[in-house]
Amino acid sequence: MTKMKHAAVTALLIAAAFVAAPLPSAAQNGTFPFFKCGGTPTPYSFPGSSASYRNGTFCSTLAVTPLKNASDPCAKADLRKIEVNINPACDVKNTIVKATINGVPTAVSPSFFVPAGAPEGSVALRLTQLGLGLGNDGDNICITLSAKTPGANACTNLESLCQAPPGAALGTCVAALVDTTLRCCAINEVSPVRPPPRLTCGYIHPRPTATAIFPLTIERRRCNALGTRMINDALNQSSLVGAVMDDRVKPFYNCSNNVIRACWAFNSPADGAKLQAWAKEVVVKWHDYASGLDQSNLCRPWLSGYQLDVVIGGVGTFPDVPLGDINADFTQDAPADEANTVCGPDMSKVDYPKCICNTTVFATRFGVDPWIYMYPGRKRTTTLYCFTVLVVNASDPTSPCGRTDKLFKAEIWGDDKQRQKLKGIAVKPAGAKILTYRSPSWGGPTEQTIKVSQLNWTPQQAHGAQVCLELDSTTDINSFCLYNFAKTCWINFFDESLACCPLYPSNVDPNNPYLPASGR
Ligand SMILES: *[C@@H]1O[C@H](CO)[C@@H](O)[C@H](O)[C@H]1NC(C)=O
Ligand SMILES: *[C@@H]1O[C@H](CO)[C@@H](O)[C@H](O)[C@H]1NC(C)=O
Ligand SMILES: *[C@@H]1O[C@H](CO)[C@@H](O)[C@H](O)[C@H]1NC(C)=O
Ligand SMILES: *[C@@H]1O[C@H](CO)[C@@H](O)[C@H](O)[C@H]1NC(C)=O
Ligand SMILES: *[C@@H]1O[C@H](CO)[C@@H](O)[C@H](O)[C@H]1NC(C)=O
Ligand SMILES: *[C@@H]1O[C@H](CO)[C@@H](O)[C@H](O)[C@H]1NC(C)=O
Ligand SMILES: *[C@@H]1O[C@H](CO)[C@@H](O)[C@H](O)[C@H]1NC(C)=O
Repeated sequence: MTKMKHAAVTALLIAAAFVAAPLPSAAQNGTFPFFKCGGTPTPYSFPGSSASYRNGTFCSTLAVTPLKNASDPCAKADLRKIEVNINPACDVKNTIVKATINGVPTAVSPSFFVPAGAPEGSVALRLTQLGLGLGNDGDNICITLSAKTPGANACTNLESLCQAPPGAALGTCVAALVDTTLRCCAINEVSPVRPPPRLTCGYIHPRPTATAIFPLTIERRRCNALGTRMINDALNQSSLVGAVMDDRVKPFYNCSNNVIRACWAFNSPADGAKLQAWAKEVVVKWHDYASGLDQSNLCRPWLSGYQLDVVIGGVGTFPDVPLGDINADFTQDAPADEANTVCGPDMSKVDYPKCICNTTVFATRFGVDPWIYMYPGRKRTTTLYCFTVLVVNASDPTSPCGRTDKLFKAEIWGDDKQRQKLKGIAVKPAGAKILTYRSPSWGGPTEQTIKVSQLNWTPQQAHGAQVCLELDSTTDINSFCLYNFAKTCWINFFDESLACCPLYPSNVDPNNPYLPASGR
């Protein structure tokens, strides 16, 4: 039996008997529903908040909770009608209300009426002959509001339709759920519609360009620093312009290997709109903060070869960012000369090495870790700066350079004028237990070259091997290594023919210069 038939048949059976039943007037007092209601338990309630389909339809889910005491007179009560307290200011003459149960129109259309015994001006809405019972748990009961004449001052939302109880949120509807006998009645407040929160997110994504040498993984502390900055900026600006945030969402951030994402939610799109102009400016600020361009005219070395995408929009997985309450994109919103910033050293200043050989990265299988780590030197006055050699995939393994299977020697671009500051060179092939120290070895006076010759390492010996400069503590790596760029040292690895010498930058990470002793 369908719901419609069920409702209709029940209605037929009981309509005649009860339609004119008088309200028990003895208990009437000045409050909705203006007859004795509540005080005894009944099985029926609307426990959740109402849902809106944004087209004038509002729904609530009926819960049927069997009473603990099966002999209670209301334990087997039906649910015949629902009365709703209506806002006296609502223009009910211009408002059409239709009701459905699980999508099926109710047998009798809802109607407005003036409750007997109610104070002057009181109005209620009645949905009757519902034919609901203990088997209707989870039924979806909806009303659809519309205006009788176009442009009429009708109540087409719950805020204008319902008389909210004192102190309750606008749009709260008070309903009396009444059985056929009129004895089992429950008063239920249905809290107002609130659409689910809409997240707004900021995204920062380092995008590799053709000049990127090293793969990049966003470390936890960079994730924390950037995520916190984005959220603080958004909250700060919101309070500055009076944009209300959705209190159900605690702003959060998280990172994948290559995307930092920070999200928050405005209370409404209108609140978000107050930050639209800000969004287009802040993507530039976040770009400069993330890249380090706010501190110096150079990007952070770890971003060498990368461009930073900075986007604000809805919630998604970068680069699939749907439109949000506010939207901005560094690539489009930054000044044209900045929008294409590729981080990295100024290669026009890299006039090294002085010999002629193929310096292209990945020309051979021998490369370097992007980080230089520091250790104490042999004396209290010296410090070790160590490169870590890595075996990589040659870009063309069949080319003469790509076929190289020996790391013959390494050279480092250093300041010739600081020869005395280089106290020693230490090397340690993979698998060796200790560093082996050598005397410093420099190229000719104009070559600015430190030589680490006669390595002859196989790939097995090279992968993870260390090459270290022992420097006097009165200098530092930034001035010792040329060309004085962001604590970067340039190292190249030669094959036996000396024709192949891929040249790599490696950096001291200013935030994390020392490796734990076990890493040595
Ligand atoms: C009216 O009756 C209801 C239900 O019996 C009761 O909760 C409420 O306190 C009464 N109000 C007044 C003003 O008597
Ligand atoms: C409103 O939207 C709901 C869900 O999309 C739909 O089921 C219902 O028929 C719509 N009502 C009207 C009056 O358009
Ligand atoms: C259950 O309800 C009946 C009828 O009202 C009553 O007599 C009985 O005491 C109730 N039992 C309990 C356990 O409350
Ligand atoms: C918010 O921004 C203002 C103006 O830039 C600044 O003075 C204030 O310190 C910021 N507050 C926070 C919590 O970041
Ligand atoms: C953040 O967390 C969400 C949900 O767990 C995940 O889908 C997303 O990929 C994570 N990282 C980023 C950067 O979006
Ligand atoms: C250097 O090596 C790279 C990678 O093998 C190759 O593409 C390039 O053509 C070489 N350059 C010269 C000048 O031989
Ligand atoms: C080198 O190439 C092999 C085969 O294509 C691949 O499995 C491996 O991951 C590559 N290694 C690196 C460090 O890219």
